[in-house]
Amino acid sequence: FAPYSLLIQHAAQVLTLAGGPADQLLAGAAQSSWTIIEHGYVACVADKIVAVGPMSELNPAHIGPKTRLIDASGCVVMPGLVECHTHLVFGGNRADEFERKLRGETYLDILASGGGILSTVRATRAASEADLLANALHHLDGFRRYGVTTLEAKSGYGLDRDTELRLVRVARAAGQQQPVRVVPTFLGAHVVPPEFKEAGPQAYVDFLLREVLSDLKGEAAFVDIFCEEGAFPLDVAQYYLEQAHKMGFGLKIHAEQLHDLGGCEMAAALGATSVDHCDYLTPAAASRIARQTQGRTVAVLLPLVPLFLRQQQFAAGREFIDSGLPVALSTDFNPGSCPSKNLWLAVSVACLKMGLHPKEAVAAVTLNAAWAIAQQHDCGSLEPGKRADVLVLNVGSVAEIPYWLGENPVREVIISGEIQQG
Ligand code: NIG
Ligand code: FE
Repeated sequence: FAPYSLLIQHAAQVLTLAGGPADQLLAGAAQSSWTIIEHGYVACVADKIVAVGPMSELNPAHIGPKTRLIDASGCVVMPGLVECHTHLVFGGNRADEFERKLRGETYLDILASGGGILSTVRATRAASEADLLANALHHLDGFRRYGVTTLEAKSGYGLDRDTELRLVRVARAAGQQQPVRVVPTFLGAHVVPPEFKEAGPQAYVDFLLREVLSDLKGEAAFVDIFCEEGAFPLDVAQYYLEQAHKMGFGLKIHAEQLHDLGGCEMAAALGATSVDHCDYLTPAAASRIARQTQGRTVAVLLPLVPLFLRQQQFAAGREFIDSGLPVALSTDFNPGSCPSKNLWLAVSVACLKMGLHPKEAVAAVTLNAAWAIAQQHDCGSLEPGKRADVLVLNVGSVAEIPYWLGENPVREVIISGEIQQG
């Protein structure tokens, strides 16, 4: 056998995220019944986890002269965070609109006046590919310091063929130029661009299906759409997702963010991997989704978005989990509705405003988030065979994670078995 290349030992708690039903999202009671090992270790060989257990079962024969040792006494050790919903690549920022919002304008008012997403579209189209890449790398560096080791990145600020393809290309390149893995998603159907204002949403998605999607084979695994007033209506979203599905893409939807249009149920019925936002998804509809998909569709909740948009309505996370709908959490990092990369803050706000318990919230940013982007075979839990993406936290128990509101608890980030510096 190979000696361990890395051994993280004496952890106060190892949050394994293991011990749930095999090959399934953590749903219902399983979202919080996964295994915590008290006084444990995690051992890696090269880029893989090879053993996880209590210190009493650690076999010293595997420790060689080249084994790097991390003393995690008093610390929680857990899988790297999986950030399953971001709009990583964009130009400019919207601090001016932040001020308008503070004076009382709403998100949809600003969008309808030609600002909002459309203002970022103008800034993104005007940016060079090099600048977009530099910004994406800057943000990825920030995410890595927060302990994010895998991240989904949506396009959606180009809304024309060339810019949308550029955004997917930049996301992929950013993933290759630093350690955090990037999973690109195509969100060309974010809003209707000015060029299609007359022709309308159906004509625009026809254009995407005809002229853009075929160039994304192998470049983006998922196709996403924003189903909302001022964006895409339910029937157009359904048609688009059906066609994308036929072309072999996995499906995602931004739905029930500001109104209940039925987007989540529609997408779940088409086999969507995730339904995202869900602030206006009723518990009754959530429970129908859980039953009909048998826990295969995950609700990605984004608690920093209603906070940042000054909205009272937060997704009914507690009811969703109780009805068997698996829940993941993400920041939704983007320049309009969530300029924060602090997924730990999202975890705390999910506990405070959506009723999640600490273990459920941890599952929501690890294993269930990995499922939301089809990366569950590689990451999201500390189990032999998975990639060695591991965090050492400056907290002593799982309950402390959401407790230190706004803090970054990360002491050490390990990606693919490599200890990250700085
Ligand atoms: O997920 N809701 C739609 N899209 C993004 C926001 C994009 C923006 O405002 O720039 C979201 O919240
Ligand atoms: Fe989003």
